[in-house]
Amino acid sequence: MRVLVYQAHPGAQHSMANKAMNAASQSVEGVEFVDLYALYPRFDIDVEREQARILEADAILFQFPLFWYSSPSIVKEWQDLVLEHGFAYGREGDRLKGKIWSMGITCGAPIEAYSEEGYNGFALRTLLTPMEQTARLCQMTFLPPYVLYGALAKREAQDLSSHAEGWRKWLIAMRDDRLVMAKVRTFDVIQKHDLHEVIS
Ligand SMILES: Cc1cc2nc3c(=O)[nH]c(=O)nc-3n(C[C@H](O)[C@H](O)[C@H](O)COP(=O)(O)O)c2cc1C
Repeated sequence: MRVLVYQAHPGAQHSMANKAMNAASQSVEGVEFVDLYALYPRFDIDVEREQARILEADAILFQFPLFWYSSPSIVKEWQDLVLEHGFAYGREGDRLKGKIWSMGITCGAPIEAYSEEGYNGFALRTLLTPMEQTARLCQMTFLPPYVLYGALAKREAQDLSSHAEGWRKWLIAMRDDRLVMAKVRTFDVIQKHDLHEVIS
């Protein structure tokens, strides 16, 4: 599978978790890596160029830190501009049909925060519903995101390399068609310790 990773972090110079994941993404042969904030610091996204790019890919992944229960804003801008009517959805808008949409997300808060009883009130997968439905409207296959909870504590402990190594494995498995899709779909989100169950 041809895998494309869009990374989005507006404060890249302060990043630790996504920085480690970026290095992992860039180390996988055959994976295209695009840093959205570096490429479009003024949000002047080149729609034709990005549409051409995603047409070349089989799997489109967004990798970002969770910001206010969603993505950093350039990912939304990308969606608003690139997923045009007649291209991505609407009558005859089926150019993304069958492609995979997935994400690599780091969350500052710990896993316990992401439940009805927790201080963030909702499961992470529930918060991602708009993206899941966007993928569905574009006839894409939405896969659960690869997630790191408690990223801030792990930053302090410099404990990020195993998560980044898991991201690398996730990308390689996707590239080599070794994800067991029926199994992947049983997860709301995938964490490092789940990978052995979903890769053949
Ligand atoms: C503007 C902003 C909003 C944030 N919102 C959330 C949030 O909604 N949930 C959460 O768990 N962490 C939130 N965080 C924490 C980041 O997700 C966390 O710092 C990041 O994942 C760490 O990755 P990095 O080392 O690559 O920066 C937020 C951080 C910032 C700066």
